[in-house]
Amino acid sequence: MQEQNNPGWRPLLALFPLWLIAPAVHAASDALAPTAHWSAYTAGRASTPPMGWSSWNAFGTDIDEAKILGSAQRIVDTGLAAKGYRYINIDDGWALRRRIPDGHLEIRPDRFPSSVTGGASSFRPFTDKLHAMGLKAGIYSDLGRNTCSQAYSGSDADLPKGSVLEREVGLYGRIDQDIALFFADWGFDFIKVDGCGLRAYGAASPKVRSGQYRALQPVLDLESVSRSDIPAVQAEFSEINAALRRNKPDGDFLLSLCVWGAADVRAWGKNYGNLSRTSDDITPSWTRMLSNFDSAARRELYGHPGSWNDPDMLYIGKGDFDAEHLVEARSHFSLWAMLNAPLMIGADLRTMPQPLMDIVGNADIIAVNQDAAGNQATLAYDADDLQILVKPLASGQKAVAIVNRGIAPIEVDLTAEHLKFSKDAPVTLTDLWTKADAAFTNETRLRVAPRETRIFRASGTRALAQGIYLSEQTGSVNPAVDGVVRPQADPTIFRSSAGWTGTKGAGERPMYAGWGGARADSTPYGQVMRIAGTPYAAGIGILANSRLEVRNQGYGRLNARVGVDDSAHNRVHDVTFMIYGDGKLLAKSKPLRWGQPAQALNADVAGFKVVELVARSAAKTNEQLPVNWGDAALLSPSGPGK
Ligand code: GLA
Repeated sequence: MQEQNNPGWRPLLALFPLWLIAPAVHAASDALAPTAHWSAYTAGRASTPPMGWSSWNAFGTDIDEAKILGSAQRIVDTGLAAKGYRYINIDDGWALRRRIPDGHLEIRPDRFPSSVTGGASSFRPFTDKLHAMGLKAGIYSDLGRNTCSQAYSGSDADLPKGSVLEREVGLYGRIDQDIALFFADWGFDFIKVDGCGLRAYGAASPKVRSGQYRALQPVLDLESVSRSDIPAVQAEFSEINAALRRNKPDGDFLLSLCVWGAADVRAWGKNYGNLSRTSDDITPSWTRMLSNFDSAARRELYGHPGSWNDPDMLYIGKGDFDAEHLVEARSHFSLWAMLNAPLMIGADLRTMPQPLMDIVGNADIIAVNQDAAGNQATLAYDADDLQILVKPLASGQKAVAIVNRGIAPIEVDLTAEHLKFSKDAPVTLTDLWTKADAAFTNETRLRVAPRETRIFRASGTRALAQGIYLSEQTGSVNPAVDGVVRPQADPTIFRSSAGWTGTKGAGERPMYAGWGGARADSTPYGQVMRIAGTPYAAGIGILANSRLEVRNQGYGRLNARVGVDDSAHNRVHDVTFMIYGDGKLLAKSKPLRWGQPAQALNADVAGFKVVELVARSAAKTNEQLPVNWGDAALLSPSGPGK
């Protein structure tokens, strides 16, 4: 067990009643048994990705009421609020101290004068102001006793004051008290929960040795998933979930997990919160933006309405994304829209130049991000310097983005096949930056400048006339169990030289676990899906011993061609594929092993709300056994698209 490596964590685990971690215990018994439920997080208010503004990228800890309300006012006055930017989030830097002994948190009075109420320090006047403006209010805390700025800030100026205990402003051991304060008393609607308190306060850390902070055995290790204690981190988020339900019974809250892709959170964050950070912090650098983009771009099946991947806040307004770099700023915005990332503006809006305001205000691109189907884009073409992303929209149209990551212009052949549109019927494209329309049949050639992202809304005739591939509805497919038993770092994520340590040391190592996770139109390891030599351009690639949940929005049949992928090294073990409808077995394949041709597996799913696809193998711990749900599709007659 992981916690044996972290004995210092045991006292915390003892604080959690067993029922809080019971789902994990149950999962271990037979995680592949159908549940007839959609298990990804749907509590809170995140049916589309949240939009708003956060103080961090603009001001760091140097925040005050005037700066925050000034940006909020601009959000309203410029019409951005009407376009969906509603959350105004205070990040790190607001706390003065925790009052001892009752533990009430106090706000920096010089920075937030309205918090001085005559009674206890309170954000209520501040959130009242935001609410009166038609906006929502967000707050920041940490899983540990202390926050990230306390661990990493070079100056004490903005940090909490007082004794060691008074400076413990994080949630650790105080979850119910603080969540009640933030949501019930102060009226916040959003909380970002950071993880530095579980990462940076080991007994040997300089901060702890200085005597200013109590030690807390680290359970999060950003560089090593095997040194992280995953159940311990999950247990704390479970307690936060329960506290939110108790203190915001109307469900009007948002929970943002900020453990930066550590502890394999890219696989399980979707079960615990509305947003889950997939990487370390973005910086205003093109290559760093690419790292953050990559950390979420191949996790298309792990984001859904209510549980979105979060590659971090927008950095439009600074560095490579300032008004001198509109090409890069447009790319950053387009890519975040395609990923269904939260659109959190990170600039001082009081001084943001108009061309940048126009970028974050592009209503067509916002509509792509906010599309009701909630499908994160998939990578229809994937090279190191050029990618084509396709995002199916609720209307049946598709958004397509072509990003040139490199330094030379590229002539790009965009094909109907990339879009899963018929190559014999016309496809129309509307450029979402220039608004120009164009049409083509089969393929078209487009020039994409260095660092440019061209983004279009495309209409055409579906290649699959009778239904929809599962890989075209990533928002409705949840890898509840993805078969990964030993999380491994994903080597495909761009390692930027613009990270936090710059070029000191040997450079970032692959560190974001997720390699081997389920993929749309790809094997888990990025290969073309193939069964006994036959390639599949569409389908879901996943490891054996997995269970996918699929929301069925009125379709009648689910058809797939199933089998072990040709890339599997395991030629010994059989895999049996099963389709369930609301927990009932509907179809089962014969046992299939490597080299055997695909078997057609068809099920009548009419009337079933949650369809589950299970691939079960005796290869219990073999994480290297990729299997395919080739051409997997939901089909009419009884549903949309008939
Ligand atoms: C971490 C988070 C950032 C920000 C800072 C605040 O680094 O990842 O987004 O919240 O902490 O200190």
